[in-house]
Amino acid sequence: MARAFLSRQSMNTHKPIKKAVFPVAGLGTRFLPATKAIPKELLPVIDRPLIQYAVDEAREAGIEQMIFVTGRGKTAIVENFDIAFELESTMAERGKDMSVLEPTRFTPGNLITVRQQVPLGLGHAIWCARAIVGDDPFAILLPDELMVGKPGCMKQMVDAYNEVGGNLISVLEVPQDKVSSYGVIAPGATLDMLDGTLTEVKGLVEKPPVDQAPSNKIISGRYILQPAVMRTLEGQEKGAGGEIQLTDAMARMIGEQPFHAVTFGGKRYDCGSKTGFVEATLAIALEREDMGTEVRAIAERLLAK
Ligand code: UTP
Repeated sequence: MARAFLSRQSMNTHKPIKKAVFPVAGLGTRFLPATKAIPKELLPVIDRPLIQYAVDEAREAGIEQMIFVTGRGKTAIVENFDIAFELESTMAERGKDMSVLEPTRFTPGNLITVRQQVPLGLGHAIWCARAIVGDDPFAILLPDELMVGKPGCMKQMVDAYNEVGGNLISVLEVPQDKVSSYGVIAPGATLDMLDGTLTEVKGLVEKPPVDQAPSNKIISGRYILQPAVMRTLEGQEKGAGGEIQLTDAMARMIGEQPFHAVTFGGKRYDCGSKTGFVEATLAIALEREDMGTEVRAIAERLLAK
C-alpha cells in the first residue's frame, strides 16, 4: 500500500469550491404520509430542518452559493431561507430573541433554485443544475444524510480537495451484507492526511450484489466533482432502479481525472430511513447542552420498562 503524507502547507492551485448543489426534488415516499404536504428536507431533527444542517455544513466549508434542485411541492424549502416578514416583525415587537433565525439568512443572490420537473434520479437532479454550476468544481450535499463531526464532513472534504484536487466522495464502512443498498467503491492506495484518510478510487458500482461488491466502503452523500460530470450525465442511460445514477457518471470519469474517497471521522445518520431519523434525533438530543440530561433520563426510563 503506497502511503504519503500530505501537508496543508502544500501549494493550493485548485479552483476553490464556492458552489454546492442540494438535490431536494425526491418524493420522500418512505416518510408518507408525513411528506405528502411537507418536503422530507424540512422534517426537523429537534428544532432544525434537515436542510438547515446541510446548509450549515456547507457554510462551515466556505461554500457561498447554494443551489437547490427542487420540484413540485418543495417551495417551502426555499421559504425557510427567506424573510418571514409577519413572523419577524411580530417577534421584534414582542422583544423575542431573533438570533434563532440567524442560520436561515442568506446573502441576496446566494440561494439559487432550479427545477427538476420529474424525479428521474439523483444524476438527473444534479444535471438540472448544469447552467448554474458552469465551469466550476462544485459540492453536492444530500440533506437526508445528516453528518455530525468537527470538522464537518464537507469541511474535511474541501481541505482534502485543496491538497489533491479532482473529484472526491465521502465514504463510510458498513457490514458487508448491507452493501447492496448503496454505491460502493473499489479502493486503491491509501494516503494519510492531517484529519483522516484519503483512499484512491479505482471503480464505483451502484447497489452491487453482496458477493460482487468490491469493498464495504459506501458512498455517503457528500461529493466534490469537476464540472465535466455534467457532460457525462448528458444523455446517460438509466441505471439501477430505472433512475439516472450519479454513481454511473462518476464511474466513467475514473482514470481521466483524480478520484479520491474521504473516510469521514464523524457520525452519519441516514435520515432518509425512519429508524435512521429516530437515531439521529436521539443521538443529537443526548449531546445537546440544553436537553441532554433530561433526554437521557427519559430514554433510561423508557428502556427500563
Ligand atoms: P432518495 O432516493 O433518498 O430520496 O434521494 P427520495 O426519493 O426523496 O426518498 P424515498 O426513497 O422516496 O423515500 C436522495 C436525495 O436526492 C434527491 C432527494 O430529494 C434526496 O434529497 N432526489 C432524488 C432528487 O432531487 N431527485 C430525484 O430524482 C431523486
